[in-house]
Amino acid sequence: MGFNDKRKIVIAIDGHSSCGKSTFAKAIAARLGYIFIDTGAMYRSVTLYALEHGGIVDGIVDEDKIVSLLDQIEITFRFNPARGASDVYINGDFAEGKIRTIEVSNFVSPVSSIGAVRSKLVAMQQQMGRHRGVVMDGRDIGTVVFPDAELKIFMTADPKVRAERRYAELTAKGDKVSFEEILENVISRDKADTTRAISPLRKAEDAIVLDNSTMTVEQQMEWFDAELNRVLSSLE
Ligand code: DC
Repeated sequence: MGFNDKRKIVIAIDGHSSCGKSTFAKAIAARLGYIFIDTGAMYRSVTLYALEHGGIVDGIVDEDKIVSLLDQIEITFRFNPARGASDVYINGDFAEGKIRTIEVSNFVSPVSSIGAVRSKLVAMQQQMGRHRGVVMDGRDIGTVVFPDAELKIFMTADPKVRAERRYAELTAKGDKVSFEEILENVISRDKADTTRAISPLRKAEDAIVLDNSTMTVEQQMEWFDAELNRVLSSLE
């Protein structure tokens, strides 16, 4: 029996920044014919909009202003076959490249710690996954968004390995960044994500840990297949 013959489940992937969650989640979704939802792209979209509409001025995050902007921000995903994943659009405008700059990365943690931002995005995410058959990656998917997810994975990797991966990704795109700047961003985001008051990043009790510091994508997929089989047979 193939994977798709079985009942659809929710797969929650949480973990530290830049440890390949999206690559992993995307590969799993493609394999299962599930929808992949990158929730970080949604927090990044709100951050970009805030930067462009007076919610962040001269490096100062104005929470009240950002909350007042929320009703004007419509975030949608459209599947892009070339990427095998969905691109994010803000009020109908393509925003995929613009949300992944170092500037957005530097402000996304404070923006994602605003309660009203989280409530809006969590409600959208729950709506997107209501028919199950989704792979969702983020920080609070297994703890807050889908505490009843059938398979929860907590991904992590050594901070230096993560910084090297992000550095390679950004420089390949032509971004002028230094390795030290990226490492600093990785470390400070870990701290901000795990210590914030609302929905901090933490491993759900029933999540399984995947430390991929020294694993190839193929090895991670082998690991995943074994875990998926375990979960699916427990549901039969
Ligand atoms: O996955 P990412 O690095 O693109 O996410 C960007 C930021 O968004 C991350 O630093 C924390 C925040 N985030 C969050 O608070 N909750 C989520 N479910 C996803 C991301």
